Amino acid sequence: MQILLLGKYGQLGWELHRSLGTLGEVAAFDSPEIDLSHPEGIRQVVQQVKPDVIINATAYTAVDRAESESETAHTINAVAPGIMAEVAFAHDTALIHYSTDYVFDGAQNRPYLETDSPNPLSVYGQSKLDGERAIQQIGGAYLILRTSWVYSLRRDSFVTKVLSWSRQQKTLRVVADQVSNPTWARMLAEATAQLLAKAGTRPARWVSQYSGLYHLAGFGYASRLDWAKAILDADSRPAEQLTQEILPAQTADFPTPARRPLFSALDCQRFMDTFNLRLPDWQEALTLAMAEIQSTP
Ligand SMILES: NC(=O)c1ccc[n+]([C@@H]2O[C@H](COP(=O)([O-])OP(=O)(O)OC[C@H]3O[C@@H](n4cnc5c(N)ncnc54)[C@H](OP(=O)(O)O)[C@@H]3O)[C@@H](O)[C@H]2O)c1
Repeated sequence: MQILLLGKYGQLGWELHRSLGTLGEVAAFDSPEIDLSHPEGIRQVVQQVKPDVIINATAYTAVDRAESESETAHTINAVAPGIMAEVAFAHDTALIHYSTDYVFDGAQNRPYLETDSPNPLSVYGQSKLDGERAIQQIGGAYLILRTSWVYSLRRDSFVTKVLSWSRQQKTLRVVADQVSNPTWARMLAEATAQLLAKAGTRPARWVSQYSGLYHLAGFGYASRLDWAKAILDADSRPAEQLTQEILPAQTADFPTPARRPLFSALDCQRFMDTFNLRLPDWQEALTLAMAEIQSTP
């Protein structure tokens, strides 16, 4: 299988690059080799690689900056995925794309289903929703995997920030009113690879039977406050922590340019029922992720 991976240096893309190698040949790109703010370049890359599947792990993910750079966010998160879907359709190629819980307004009090109506509160959320719609409009063999609160340990993430704050501050104040599914990028990458392993040598044909939108995130959900506490509990170098207390805060205590949904947990049952795969419990995944960070000197 010939795989075209876009976004190989991102949190998810890095892990995908690691996980996909057993499935075939991976041609992987990221900025600056490819610049999706000029998305027409995608056509040339696809001509060159002739992939059986395109996996798009690129995104404009600077949620706050997107408020003042809406055009760039729209080009990368909406126009580029639309072009990917177009070339995938034209070349009988499958497309796997990722989206976000930020397409929802977070006003609900039960995890969101794929059938719930999106209502993004931010430019980022709107641009990702526009990307989903651009792909759906073209159709073909595609899977859109909506995920949430992705973290890795090799780029800045909530996990690395909490660890770093804990080395500097006696008291941490963390928002208790934002709730979603913490998702370790590695688990998301591995589930993607397992999914593709089911697709055999003609992924477009297999994927076309299931084309659509699926929620795929860490199993279970938590508030940012609970997540922060779990991070510090799993820290195997607690002696380095200065933090003595973690206090609950409200989103309104930390004004940001972009509004974020309060309750945006995703219900992943549809993905489980369709593919017989799920991501592990978010706490188990966090423990595994943290064990890895602790083993580095
Ligand atoms: N992070 C989260 O909490 C979260 C939550 C829900 C959904 N998601 C979705 O999950 C997917 C993966 O997210 P992630 O956290 O892995 O993102 P990430 O770490 O920010 O990685 C995104 C990658 O895209 C690249 N990129 C950005 N602009 C580009 C451009 N103009 N041309 C080419 N490449 C460009 C980035 O390169 P540079 O670093 O050089 O800019 C980076 O390597 C995305 O679809 C995202 O929307 C993420």
